[in-house]
Amino acid sequence: MKILGIETSCDETAAAVVEDGREILSNVVASSAEMHAASGGVIPEKAARQQVKSILPVMTKALTDAEATIENINCLAVTAGPGLIGSLLVGVETAKTLSLLFKKPLIPVNHLVAHIYANWLSPKTPRFPALSLVVSGGHTDMVIMEGHGKLRWIGGTRDDAAGEAFDKTARLLGLPYPGGPQISKLSALFREKNPQVKLDLFPRPMVKEDNFDFSFSGLKTAIAREIGRMNHKNKARLAAEVEEAIVEVLVEKTIRAVSVFEPKSLLLSGGVAANSRLREKFEEEIKDHNLEIDFFVPEPKLCTDNAVYIASYAFFNRPRVPWEKIEARDELTIMGQL
Ligand code: KG4
Ligand code: ZN
Repeated sequence: MKILGIETSCDETAAAVVEDGREILSNVVASSAEMHAASGGVIPEKAARQQVKSILPVMTKALTDAEATIENINCLAVTAGPGLIGSLLVGVETAKTLSLLFKKPLIPVNHLVAHIYANWLSPKTPRFPALSLVVSGGHTDMVIMEGHGKLRWIGGTRDDAAGEAFDKTARLLGLPYPGGPQISKLSALFREKNPQVKLDLFPRPMVKEDNFDFSFSGLKTAIAREIGRMNHKNKARLAAEVEEAIVEVLVEKTIRAVSVFEPKSLLLSGGVAANSRLREKFEEEIKDHNLEIDFFVPEPKLCTDNAVYIASYAFFNRPRVPWEKIEARDELTIMGQL
C-alpha cells in the first residue's frame, strides 16, 4: 500500500510517499526556518503564506521522486494537528481536495503520535509494550504504547517543551532560530575542548520528583541571569550547560519510567531527538543500568518534521474518516482523538 503523506503543521512543508508503512519511496521537505531566523521564532502569518507557496511543488516532487502519480497512490494522509492553524489549514484543505477529486481515502494524523512512527522506519521493528518519549518544539510527552492506537499518557511538561527551552535560551544567547541545532553545535565544540569540565551550573527541575513530569521554563530565567553575570563571554560554555541540564532531566526521568513500566522497547522521537548529546546519554545510561530494552531513535533527519512518519503512522493506524469530517485541530494533544 502506497501512502502519500502531507505535513504542514509549522514552518516545514513536507510530502512523502511510503510503501507499507516502512519503505520510503520519497521524502521532500521545504523549510521556511531561514525566514524566521532573524526574528528568533516562527511568525505564524509568514509561515502560513509560505505553506501556500510550497505545498504544490513539494507534493509534485514527492510523487515524481517516488515514480508515482496521484492515481496510483492508494491513500492520503495529512497532519490535522496540533500546530499553527494557518499552516495546518493549507495541508488539510489540499488533502481534502485531492481526496474528493481522486476518490482516495484520507487519513487525518495526530502529528505528535506520528513523530513516534519515525521509529518504524528503522530495520528493526519496535515491540510492545513500548515506552515513548516525544520531544518536539512545542510538546514533551511520555506515553506507554500497548499497541498501535493504544496509548496511555504518563507524563509531560508542565510549562515549556524541551524544544522551546532550547529555542528560548538560544535566543538569549543571540543565536538564530531554530536554536536547538545551534546550541548543540556550540556545546559539542565546548565539550570536545573541555572534556574535564563538570556541567552542573543549572538546576535539574523536577528530576527527583516521583512522577514523569517536566518543567523547563525556569531554565530561561537561570540563563538570563547567568548571561548578565558572565557578560556574554562564554556562549559555548553556557550552551553546553543548558544542553546538559535538559538532557539529564529527560534521560533520568525516562530511565526511571523504564524501570517502573518495564517496556520491551524505548522509542525516542521529535525534533529534540536529533540532539547528539541526548542520543549518546540514553545509550550510556541504558548500558550503565544493564537495561534489557530495545532502544530506538530515528536518524536525525527523520526526527525533525517530515511527512515520512505521517504516512507511516497512517499505514499502522487507519481511522475511517470521510473527508467532510476532517478539520485542522491546532489544539490537539498527544491523546486527542481525530
Ligand atoms: O519536532 P520538530 O521538528 O517540530 C515540532 O513538531 O515542533 O521539533 C523542532 C524542535 C525545535 O525546538 C528545535 O530547536 C529542536 O526541535 N531541535 C533540536 C535539535 N534539532 C532540532 N534541539 C536540540 N538539538 C538538536 N540537534
Ligand atoms: Zn514535529
